[in-house]
Amino acid sequence: VPEIDTGWNPPQRVLMGPGPSNVHPRVLQAMGQWTIGHLDPQFLALMDETMELLRKVFRTANPLTFAVSGTGSAGMEATFVNMLEPGDRVVVGVNGVFGERMCDVASRCGAEVRRVEAPWGRIIDPDDAARAIRETGPKLVAVVHAETSTGVRQPLEGIRQAAHAADALLLADCVTSLGGVELRVDDWGVDLAYSGTQKCLSCPPGLSPVTFGERALAAFDRRQAKVQSWYLDIGMIRRYWSGERFYHHTAPINAIYGLREALRLIAEEGLDARIERHARNAAALHAGLEAMGLQLFAQEGYRLPSLTTVSVPEGCDDAALRAALLTEFNLEIGGGLGPVKGKVVRVGLMGETSSPRNVLYFLSCLGRILKRQGVRVGSGLEAAQAALEV
Ligand SMILES: Cc1ncc(COP(=O)(O)O)c(C=O)c1O
Repeated sequence: VPEIDTGWNPPQRVLMGPGPSNVHPRVLQAMGQWTIGHLDPQFLALMDETMELLRKVFRTANPLTFAVSGTGSAGMEATFVNMLEPGDRVVVGVNGVFGERMCDVASRCGAEVRRVEAPWGRIIDPDDAARAIRETGPKLVAVVHAETSTGVRQPLEGIRQAAHAADALLLADCVTSLGGVELRVDDWGVDLAYSGTQKCLSCPPGLSPVTFGERALAAFDRRQAKVQSWYLDIGMIRRYWSGERFYHHTAPINAIYGLREALRLIAEEGLDARIERHARNAAALHAGLEAMGLQLFAQEGYRLPSLTTVSVPEGCDDAALRAALLTEFNLEIGGGLGPVKGKVVRVGLMGETSSPRNVLYFLSCLGRILKRQGVRVGSGLEAAQAALEV
């Protein structure tokens, strides 16, 4: 087993976990450029460019589309605290860790939370959501578009219809979909959304792209109470990202250099081509896993291309499997969370990580370790290769 240096020279891993994903060297180089001031005209121009590039990946014309300083959870918090006041009603879809986290955040805003649940690994049934919306009359309906804890892709249309019929706002968590999975904020009527940089955008963690539509801003303008969070108050932040460039907090300058470079890489590849690449590599991974005799955990027809959950086969020690992948093959995957801890492993194919090479490498390492653990599996390589050639 090679020595792993965890000091100032981190190992070059294949990051196939639930995030972070591998980062393109151009992004790392951009982050290593000279720091300039957060009010320097050249930095302000770079912020404008970043907002424009973000609008393209969200597929929105929303003027207020920017990066919250903080990871994906900061984006989650920013959307909830700006929309909700104590006593407001909110309907939240809960079929994994992140729907659960949304309920926690909403209740900390003093909102009354109505949960719409589905078993882990299955989508929220739009009819269940519509019923809860009709019964509750909420201000906000929140769902996770890409549930990283289960690998489920949630269709938004039915929930959007029910939310808008009740004059509620639709909020989508797009942390594991933005930049890798089909997402159309304007066409789909999503009123506000947030994401994270370390998934399909392939940046280091640290920023949370968000977008607020017209209806969301109108609701913000009708607020009676001050936003509970000073740091995340879009009333002030928007005056820095656009408008009079009012100083609110010092922007994470170099992180924004990195995000802008990652977004330029997406523009060069083309968003459609990138989404197609994610779909093709995920199809190959899924074909390979099934050919090995393994079972995919997420509901068929609603599997995310960016994150695959695989049921842990009988006889497999999943912690030992993950440790062997990391120490022997420099390859990171994730374990299950909450009720599926020990029952699934999570395999990410996000951004730079989504490549035929990584699919084939992972399948081959996985087969080797499972056989060593005494688990009977076939080879997944031929099936994956065949899927890649389609
Ligand atoms: C769907 C989803 N929402 C929210 C988050 C929170 O993001 P972060 O860990 O960057 O704060 C994550 C992180 O994995 C996520 O996958």
